[in-house]
Amino acid sequence: MTTPGTDPAIRVVLMPKDTNAHGTIFGGVILSHIDIAAAIEVRKHTAKKIVTKAMHEVVFVAPVFVGDIVSFYTSLVRTGRTSITVKVIVEAERVSHPYEYARVTEAEVVYVAIDDNRKPIPIRDEANP
Ligand SMILES: CC(C)(COP(=O)(O)OP(=O)(O)OC[C@H]1O[C@@H](n2cnc3c(N)ncnc32)[C@H](O)[C@@H]1OP(=O)(O)O)[C@@H](O)C(=O)NCCC(=O)NCCS
Repeated sequence: MTTPGTDPAIRVVLMPKDTNAHGTIFGGVILSHIDIAAAIEVRKHTAKKIVTKAMHEVVFVAPVFVGDIVSFYTSLVRTGRTSITVKVIVEAERVSHPYEYARVTEAEVVYVAIDDNRKPIPIRDEANP
C-alpha cells in the first residue's frame, strides 16, 4: 500500500532511542512528527503564526519498527475562521521487507492562527479573503 502521486511532508528513519518498553517506536515520537508534518502543510496556506490546538482521531493502526522508513503525508481538510485542519497519514516501509508499505497511523490536527498577544486571529485577511 502506498499513497501514490504525492510527496510526503516529511520522511524519517526512527532509531533505537525512539522506542518504548516493548522495543517498537514510542507513540509520542510519532505524534511529534505528525505535528511537524501538519505544520508544514499549514505553511502552504498561511504565513501567520500558528499553534497546535487539537489532535483528533489519532489512530495507531500498526506498530513502527526501528529502521522503518516512515513517511508523513498531509492534506488540507478545512479552513475555518481562525483554525485550519490537516489530515496526516503515516506509512512505514518495513526495514525487514523493502518496498512493503503499511499504513501505521492517521490523525487530524487543528491549528489556530494567533497574534502577538496569543489571541486567535482570522486565517484569511478579511479585507482580502
Ligand atoms: C490556541 C488558543 C489561542 C485558542 O484559544 P481559544 O480560546 O480556544 O479560541 P477559540 O475558542 O476562539 O477557538 C479558536 C478556533 O479553534 C477551534 N477549536 C477550539 N477548540 C477546538 C477543538 N477542541 N478542536 C478543534 N477545533 C477547536 C474553534 O472552532 C475556532 O476555530 P474557527 O475560528 O475556525 O471556527 C489557546 O487555546 C491556546 O493558546 N492554546 C495553547 C496552544 C499551544 O500551546 N499549543 C502547543 C504548542 S504549539
